[in-house]
Amino acid sequence: MTEIESIVFTPAEIAAAIRRMAESIARDYLGRTVVLLGVLKGALFVTADLARTLDAVAAGGIEVRLDFLAVSSYGNAHRSSGEVRLIQDTSHSIEGKHVLIVEDIIDNGLTLKYLMTLLGGRAPASLRVAVLLDKPYNRRVDVHVDYVGMTCPDEFVVGYGLDYQERYRTLPYVAKLRSEIFTTMGETVAT
Ligand code: PRP
Repeated sequence: MTEIESIVFTPAEIAAAIRRMAESIARDYLGRTVVLLGVLKGALFVTADLARTLDAVAAGGIEVRLDFLAVSSYGNAHRSSGEVRLIQDTSHSIEGKHVLIVEDIIDNGLTLKYLMTLLGGRAPASLRVAVLLDKPYNRRVDVHVDYVGMTCPDEFVVGYGLDYQERYRTLPYVAKLRSEIFTTMGETVAT
């Protein structure tokens, strides 16, 4: 695809990271029922792949359930607005449940902080976080992540759920966009 400058993580690297996360999660939740709570829309693919890999790795030792909620913090810009909004809530109560929030990426941490406060107030049995890509360079709040797939370079990346103005989510890899994309799509890139 001509808009892609470089591939940052290949499909094989993503799959290996998800497997490592699943193996840690399988050890920690053995004998329990865990609700994987995917944060839409970005975490759609990592939630689906992590859930199936966890099922396979745990070999019946864990009951894996799925739920989703949707938040938005970025608007259409390629940098965070810093404002988090709940767009869609979970379909089931999390009270008394072992809940594992699944995110595609953590950057400034505001989304996760918001979710931990919101969900922590609903009396889950436990509340942990799994993130495929950690971008630790621009944290605005202190947040703890229990399971990290890979550390992401300090670049704006798309693919495997991550978008720019709702495009590129369906790419099977994580990639850096050519900087012209931001200017041609009506934004000036801050350097
Ligand atoms: C992205 C991503 C995380 C959040 C992380 O979601 O999926 O939820 O930003 O950023 P932060 O740590 O800087 O808060 P986004 O708001 O872009 O919505 P989307 O998942 O629908 O793309």
